[in-house]
Amino acid sequence: MSLLPHSPNHCSLNLSNTPSTLLFPAIRRALFCLTATLLLSACGGSDASDNSSNDSSNTPELPSQPTPPTPPDNPDSPNNPETDINWLPAGGNATIAADISRPFLQIMPNLPSSALGGVSPGRELFITEWTPANQGRVLFDGVGPLFNANACTQCHSAEGRKPIYAANGELSDAILFRLGNKQGLAHTYYGEQMQHQSIDTSIAAEGKMRYTITASNGNQPTGIQFDFSATDPNQPLGDTAISGRISPQLVGMGLLDLIPEADIIAAADPDDNNNDGISGRVHWVQDGKQRRIGRFGWKAINSSLRTQNANAMSQDMGLTTSVFMDPNCTANQPICWTAPNGGTPEVSDSSLDAVTDFMAALAVPERRVADLSTFNKGAQLFTQVGCASCHTPKQKTGASGRFPLLAQQTIYPYTDLLLHDMGKGLDDGVKEKNAESYEWRTPPLWGIGIVARDPEARFLHDGRASSLTEAILWHGGEAESTKTRFRQLPATQQQTLLSFLNGI
Ligand code: HEC
Ligand code: HEC
Repeated sequence: MSLLPHSPNHCSLNLSNTPSTLLFPAIRRALFCLTATLLLSACGGSDASDNSSNDSSNTPELPSQPTPPTPPDNPDSPNNPETDINWLPAGGNATIAADISRPFLQIMPNLPSSALGGVSPGRELFITEWTPANQGRVLFDGVGPLFNANACTQCHSAEGRKPIYAANGELSDAILFRLGNKQGLAHTYYGEQMQHQSIDTSIAAEGKMRYTITASNGNQPTGIQFDFSATDPNQPLGDTAISGRISPQLVGMGLLDLIPEADIIAAADPDDNNNDGISGRVHWVQDGKQRRIGRFGWKAINSSLRTQNANAMSQDMGLTTSVFMDPNCTANQPICWTAPNGGTPEVSDSSLDAVTDFMAALAVPERRVADLSTFNKGAQLFTQVGCASCHTPKQKTGASGRFPLLAQQTIYPYTDLLLHDMGKGLDDGVKEKNAESYEWRTPPLWGIGIVARDPEARFLHDGRASSLTEAILWHGGEAESTKTRFRQLPATQQQTLLSFLNGI
């Protein structure tokens, strides 16, 4: 499949012999070129004649990378095995400069044109606004009948996190609501997700949600309150619990997909045998006939990027794939089943694979380090108070048949991809697959400082925290003692830790 006009690749740039000091401007130029040409839908293409100058043989050379910000022998930072100060690029080969206006949803540098043949149409499918069936856009139709948004980019932004309130004060599309209970049962009428949009008035959208973050006198947030108005008053939510979910920034997805299962298992300590109060456990999920480790989503319910994308298409956009063939209607929504569809399935395997290629090729913005010695001190505090016990700074990717550039990379995602009991305050009452209502996957923190530059940005699964500090103060359960240690740090050290967080 190729959705894009083939045209010569104007983005070719040979970085392999460039001295590293010159790379930042070069990469910035390359990115600008990539962004500009992709907007015109013309970068890449799968013609062999497109080969960029650093890809003449189809076995790409290991590309040069932005210079890591650290001289190895910094006198301020003695070699400490716990905080590796010899920083390598944050996302290995997938690292890009961070000082660009749209640091997310960028494609990693140096991809051979053979790989761009999937990635470029995948990007197109990611940004396009899908239409309902039978409106003449065969490759991009079939959204709904019920849905949350009609494009992946309605929720996932290149700048950071989308605002969760729209200009009219209503909740935006970028927050969605999962429904369920502590036993893992979805609502019999609405299913496992509330869809607030429908293709036309013959099929009613499910309802409207409002939420309020409650605060104590000292303005300290204390909880979150949901208010659901059903379109059909005969379909109350009853005792089904509601869990808000904000759309995360998408960073280095292909790298996270390649962290070997054995490494995730090795880091788990479900019975807390090492007595540190932290007992991360693997979220085992069934993927077809295989039992695999869940790693994507706030509760790690999806075990691969492909399943995650198919799930997003199904639940968020009402698009069927070979992974989820049924429309997202429940047995109790008969009219929903009668809506015309945009094909069986609506998204072909080659389109799903292309979107998965695009996700896999997403870059990681490099660290932003104003002062290296403060940054390194922050890294030490991050480990000392216990953040690193879940937000594992360093991981290594395994092999990749599809994207050899992503294989065997040292990366800094700040996650163990495990589930942790985060305590009562963050218990959303919704069990998903085998993740209990109080369990959450450690979210990767790379790029979180870029997100935090936006004063409107929200944090944690339902966006209840309005700053990084607030997010930390919501930590409970296994993270209770870490939070206490953070609170007890002198203010200047808290600032040092936060400035580190803003730089990763
Ligand atoms: C209505 C908003 C919305 C739309 C549309 C949407 N997403 Fe998402 N996406 C989310 C939310 C919310 C999450 C977290 C879901 C959860 O954990 O419950 C998420 C999670 C993800 C993740 C996993 C991120 C991680 O860190 O684990 C990927 C990958 C992803 N989406 C890709 C896509 C793709 C591809 C599309 C389009 C086909 C898409 N999304 C459409 C809201 C959306
Ligand atoms: C026991 C494991 C654990 C420890 C220890 C821990 N975290 Fe977390 N962290 C999590 C989990 C799980 C979440 C997601 C919770 C949620 O969304 O409800 C999270 C969320 C966050 C977020 C919000 C991320 C986002 O995408 O919105 C930040 C920021 C964060 N942690 C920073 C820290 C810092 C700093 C420390 C140390 C002071 C720390 N964490 C200690 C597990 C942990």
